[in-house]
Amino acid sequence: MKIALGVSGGIAAYKAAEVVRLLRDRGIRVQVVMTRAAQEFVKPLTFAALSGEKVITDLFGTEAEQPNIDAAVEHIAVAQAIDALVVVPATADVIAKFAQGIANDFLSTLFLATTAPVVIAPAMNVNMWNNAATQANLAILRKRGVHIVEPGTGYLACGMTGAGRLAENESIVAAVMEALGASQELAGETVLITAGPTREKIDPVRYLTNRSSGKMGYALAEAALRRGARVLLVSGPTSITAPGAAELTRVETAEEMRNAVMKLLPEATIVIKTAAVSDYRPKSQASQKIKRGGALALELEPTSDIVAEIAKRKKSQLVIGFAAETENVLENARKKLTAKSLDAIVVNDVSRDGIGFDSDRNAVTIISHDNIVDVPETSKWEVAQRVLDEVIRLRKRITVKH
Ligand code: PMT
Repeated sequence: MKIALGVSGGIAAYKAAEVVRLLRDRGIRVQVVMTRAAQEFVKPLTFAALSGEKVITDLFGTEAEQPNIDAAVEHIAVAQAIDALVVVPATADVIAKFAQGIANDFLSTLFLATTAPVVIAPAMNVNMWNNAATQANLAILRKRGVHIVEPGTGYLACGMTGAGRLAENESIVAAVMEALGASQELAGETVLITAGPTREKIDPVRYLTNRSSGKMGYALAEAALRRGARVLLVSGPTSITAPGAAELTRVETAEEMRNAVMKLLPEATIVIKTAAVSDYRPKSQASQKIKRGGALALELEPTSDIVAEIAKRKKSQLVIGFAAETENVLENARKKLTAKSLDAIVVNDVSRDGIGFDSDRNAVTIISHDNIVDVPETSKWEVAQRVLDEVIRLRKRITVKH
């Protein structure tokens, strides 16, 4: 789950740092967007360190850079990628811009461009807060569905006492969580996800495996959890940490993965097969370490095709496969979609450098029987989001058909 946190220019700007930390503690990725005025109060570096992401400070790139087209359209990419826009603190100026549709910096442009829920936490001088213009602007925003975390009353930085104090962090975070709850489209679903490689023993110390790290499957598990699903994760050996809330079954061989999946299948409503399962295993395993000698031939036998077996046994589950291809990528994926009776297949070209196996990034095409979605190179987290968007679309379509 990802939010954009807008910081506008007021004394309370420093309080947004704690909000970033609290949201990250809840597993939410935070993209900070600072207005020019906000940067007079707090340095972007503080937010970059706390959020672990580059801070957006300008619509056309920083002054040091040449104005560039990528920066100029970035607000659209951010607008599409976020699950909520949160503004802490929201000044009278930002509230006025949002209400009037003025888009002259990154934050105000992002507000117009996003369809995600918006939460604002105003903070300002009491007279500015009470001013009829501010109250009229707030009324417009409320009417349009913007969630306003009402400011508290008390001593203000300007020396006056009254309404206009930024709400407590806990109230702001609770409002954000509530807004995010609106996109819990997988609540009630149990998603069975396979991830990582399998290992097929040759002898007590050697095995056949592949370069899968589990990152793609774990990103899907995390993303499904964030959308409210129960997640059953069947994972081959990996060195990464599984999301804490996933119900994890660790396996080693293709046969163990098959057994775990078949046992869990009746509980699942959606199955996503991200694992890179070995297609072959040694026909026999040496009980002692094989000694070095002349040429050695290994006889292999096929493993069970887990996806094919799911297709036979499934009841109403939606089944999504992955395809790792190195040639005729789309054509081969389409064949697998039909041959394996899948509802959709996510194909990645694993011959490309920097994506696919053991990388933080991927580029995929999601093919279903009535749709095709291209996801150009991005993080595996974003790929997971797009796969789940398609899962939700298919789920709605199938439910409507029934
Ligand atoms: O783990 P990462 O490092 O993040 O890398 C991600 C990935 C590249 C492994 C992932 O994006 C991916 O492509 N996974 C599928 C890999 C694969 O085995 O593809 P395939 O085309 O060989 O298999 C097609 C489908 O059949 C897959 O859903 C696979 O899980 C399934 N299968 C394959 C063999 C088998 N015996 N049983 C299966 O169920």
